[in-house]
Amino acid sequence: MNRTKFIGIAGGSIIATVLTSYLFSDKSNLLRKDLKLISSNNATFKVDENEILHLASLAPSGHNAQPWFVQYLEPYNWIIGNDKSKWLPAVDPTQRETILSIGAFIQNLEYAASTFGYICHWTLLAKTNQDEQVVQVKLNKIESKNPFDISKIRTRRTVRSNFLNDELKTEDLQYLTSSEPEFIHYLPAIGKEGRFISDQTMVANRLQTYRDPAQQELSDWIRFSTKDTDKYRDGLTTASMEIEGFSGWVVRNFYNKDNVMKKDFREVGLDKVKQQVSESAGWILITSKDNLVATLLETGRRMQRLFLKVREKNIAIHPMTQILEEPSIQQQLNQAVGISENIQFILRLGYLKDYPKPVSLRRPVDWFVRS
Ligand SMILES: Cc1cc2nc3c(=O)[nH]c(=O)nc-3n(C[C@H](O)[C@H](O)[C@H](O)COP(=O)(O)O)c2cc1C
Repeated sequence: MNRTKFIGIAGGSIIATVLTSYLFSDKSNLLRKDLKLISSNNATFKVDENEILHLASLAPSGHNAQPWFVQYLEPYNWIIGNDKSKWLPAVDPTQRETILSIGAFIQNLEYAASTFGYICHWTLLAKTNQDEQVVQVKLNKIESKNPFDISKIRTRRTVRSNFLNDELKTEDLQYLTSSEPEFIHYLPAIGKEGRFISDQTMVANRLQTYRDPAQQELSDWIRFSTKDTDKYRDGLTTASMEIEGFSGWVVRNFYNKDNVMKKDFREVGLDKVKQQVSESAGWILITSKDNLVATLLETGRRMQRLFLKVREKNIAIHPMTQILEEPSIQQQLNQAVGISENIQFILRLGYLKDYPKPVSLRRPVDWFVRS
């Protein structure tokens, strides 16, 4: 065999191997649209109960941990629970964010119930953020006067990239904040307070990304491969982290938890955050009067009511909670922004040119209902 022929054959087989490997690799993200709503195996479970709980579960939660469960007492009578196995102790040691997320779940549940013609009666059970039983809810059939548009629940999503820098229009700001002005504070990105939040978000992210327990916890919630994504139906996927194209393919096929702990992964993450904070209209801070369980649940509900209003205005929301999660940074926050109440959420806000569809996954209802 002459040299040219050998190189030709060798080159051909390398290309064939590469193509075959690519063909059998993890080529695309598993997205929300790829999954069908699974009907419950529970025989006593009514069809609308399944729908209402599925819609409730489309609520946002830190790292998409979905820290809720539902104890099924009888039809339309449930206890909403706090699932300890889904806590994020490294970034949320007091389960403050867990309760806020459960608050968002409860808001979705109430809106979804109204669409199916039910009114909710709530009884608070939890005295602390750690109590397993949070609230009991009974759904009673009523003449539906004001059904909620559930497409808003289905299409809501966290967006992290490609915000425009346009300032928020006065009428949009009015629409978002006027219902609860004492708890929803808007800080334009170009103002002194807005710039403080942007700068400190960067500082807090740097601190957190090099705090190993926090980074380890993040790595536990990243679903690298489509196989894992499908197995767990929670956490952060390449699609929800907005790691697209070739980079997404590399992460799905070659990355694991160890990579997350490496310097280059941490630095790439920080570069992304730098880009993100440079793009926005401004920040919304959501406050509460105290830190009681009932108040945190109401604050989670408040955040969700706001979140469900933004898409129709082409506005994206990106919770960036690192300032609140790093005590040394959090200390200076209230004074710097001139707010004396408890700040529970820091949300980056901005207009989008194209609003992407939701991609984050949720566990099927049967996985979080306990009888
Ligand atoms: C209490 C809370 C804290 C969050 N903190 C962050 C955050 O710091 N950074 C971020 O990118 N997303 C954050 N999120 C957004 C979640 O990651 C997101 O809701 C989850 O991945 C599900 O995606 P979805 O909102 O598109 O359904 C937070 C959400 C909640 C409710």
